[in-house]
Amino acid sequence: MSHILVCPPDYFDIEYEINPWMRVSNQVEVERAKSQWYELMRVLEQEVGALLERMQPVQGLPDMVFTANAGSVMGRRAVPSRFRHPERQREEAHFEAWFRSHGYEVTVLDKELYFEGAGDLLGFPDARFGGYRKRSEIRAYARLSEIFECEIIPVELVDSRFYHLDTCFCPLSGGELLYYPPAFDYYAQAAMADRVAPERRMVVPEFDALKFACNAVCVGKHVVLPAGCEATMQMLDARGYQPHPVPLSEFMKSGGSAKCLTLALD
Ligand code: ARG
Repeated sequence: MSHILVCPPDYFDIEYEINPWMRVSNQVEVERAKSQWYELMRVLEQEVGALLERMQPVQGLPDMVFTANAGSVMGRRAVPSRFRHPERQREEAHFEAWFRSHGYEVTVLDKELYFEGAGDLLGFPDARFGGYRKRSEIRAYARLSEIFECEIIPVELVDSRFYHLDTCFCPLSGGELLYYPPAFDYYAQAAMADRVAPERRMVVPEFDALKFACNAVCVGKHVVLPAGCEATMQMLDARGYQPHPVPLSEFMKSGGSAKCLTLALD
């Protein structure tokens, strides 16, 4: 059973611009955002069989819905995020309190060591990757590999539209990697090629990447992804995965989609 942390979109909105997708003038349609979020929850619970843990949303913290950025969890250890932007730094205390009150062994990073949680730290049991430059800092990964006692391979993000690792990189349960290589520098692409065999690398076309096809939630053979990524759905299907498209256009206005709205707790 997969255990996932989410936060209802009660206060979700575009109140500032901290990535190229966000425009304060491009306002969220509140009712549509809510119905998209509840549909995502329905798919996760009823079609995928995930167990959802719901956090209390906080007024004035419009990006708290994106729980992928709460922090990073491995086993019973949790490291809460240190956001780069002051607008999101106000979320840190709420996420930290959640981890503490749920019995996690919490280690906090220094204030200025930016790290945006599972939005930037993802991988396979034997190879973890940490996205840096846009949000998290490369230095954070040296500290995180000590805390979690595992190797973390830093990978540089070079396209501002793909500012978190989870916008362009999605490890699947069978060991395949769904990703958009142009979002990474040459060295990062070489590091991925070194760790993930060619037959396991699934390259998402630009059209789908810009619809956040890589921002998918994989639970066993189920993959929940934003609607409109036909080529990616076909690739997944051909590999024996069951794609579940969910319309998440309101969250794209904030630069987020399915994966950003979840945090895997196991
Ligand atoms: N508006 C949010 C931000 O810019 C979106 C976060 C998306 N989260 C993610 N894990 N990619 O921080």
